[in-house]
Amino acid sequence: MHTQLDVNGRAYALDHDPRTTLLDALRDHIGLYGTKKGCDHGQCGACTVLVNGRRINSCLTLAAMHDGDEITTVEGLGEPGALAPLQQAFVDCDGYQCGYCTPGQIMSATGMLEEAKAGDPSHVSASLSGDVALDDSEIAERMSGNLCRCSAYPFIRQAIHSVEG
Ligand code: FES
Repeated sequence: MHTQLDVNGRAYALDHDPRTTLLDALRDHIGLYGTKKGCDHGQCGACTVLVNGRRINSCLTLAAMHDGDEITTVEGLGEPGALAPLQQAFVDCDGYQCGYCTPGQIMSATGMLEEAKAGDPSHVSASLSGDVALDDSEIAERMSGNLCRCSAYPFIRQAIHSVEG
């Protein structure tokens, strides 16, 4: 079957098996390997991408369901030759150890901060509307879908705090 995906601002026309997940489409059809496959069944968050600005586990959804959608992967953050502020913050704060979960952590945190800025009532408590100042427990809860086997959580939260505001 045919699906058109807009990934990081570029259109891709895919010819694929209907069972192809969005994760496999990104990695195996488009060649964007920044999005990682950890568990492949929705438990680790390594595969997190943004779809029309919302974070999702790309292993849990079919590519065919996203015809025409705007997908952002970790490769789509920042500018050519320059990391996005949150990516740089992960570097500065040592927000990783092995690094395998890092793209998913960064994409999830990017989505979380956008949700907080937007004051989205379906994702963010009223107390956060218009004020992006998440405490550690809020970040831990909102990032609970992203696991880090190295347990770099304090440094991940530090990186997120450094770009709040
Ligand atoms: Fe998708 Fe683990 S690979 S949640």
